[in-house]
Amino acid sequence: MGKFIVIEGIDRSGKSTLARNIAIDLQNRGKSVFLTHEPTSYFDSGLDILSKLKREDYMILLAMFIRDRIEHNKYILKSMTEYDFVICDRYSLSSLAYQGVFLKEHFKDQDQFYKWIENVLSISHIESDLTIFIDFNGKSFRQGNGEKRELEIFEENEYLKNVYNIYTEAIKRGIFFNQGRIIGGNGSKEEMLNEAIKEILQIFHIQ
Ligand code: TYD
Repeated sequence: MGKFIVIEGIDRSGKSTLARNIAIDLQNRGKSVFLTHEPTSYFDSGLDILSKLKREDYMILLAMFIRDRIEHNKYILKSMTEYDFVICDRYSLSSLAYQGVFLKEHFKDQDQFYKWIENVLSISHIESDLTIFIDFNGKSFRQGNGEKRELEIFEENEYLKNVYNIYTEAIKRGIFFNQGRIIGGNGSKEEMLNEAIKEILQIFHIQ
């Protein structure tokens, strides 16, 4: 059975690049890799719902992301029998953090919120063999292609700041994060890949 690796982080954390680079690196080591992502390309059958709905339509979005995941799980499980690794760019923790920003407001007690959302999302969750969280808080400098870019996305986006906070709180609680690893999000693409690969080689006993 192939190993299931999930990559998580806020928008612009470098998640998709890291997922792709890990896939290439593992392939160069002779491993077969199936790279996939959520939302899937079947998410809304081309209706472009993500750009039409608002974040505040969190209940519809939650249901749609769960439905998408249930279908996606069939491909993930099948691919795990065919490949050494299945790498998924976003999974359950994304729904927890992104939809959680609004759902959380309905709970007086934070513990209850985390328990509730974990239960709801467990229905469509496949336990990963490794989840990597890119700890990028949007405030820092990022070295990219030799040029320094300042990404102050929190100042333009209060929402992402809340998403980040829920990610880190869920991770602290160990929700959907067993065998979890946190990768520094402020390094170069190469540094992030090296950090991730080091963990992967160790966890999966690859020479
Ligand atoms: P993504 O494809 O990662 O972003 P991009 O289009 O920049 O490559 O995801 C699209 C958006 O969907 C992103 O803002 C995160 C959001 N999202 C949720 O809100 N809940 C979820 O469960 C998932 C999987 C994504």
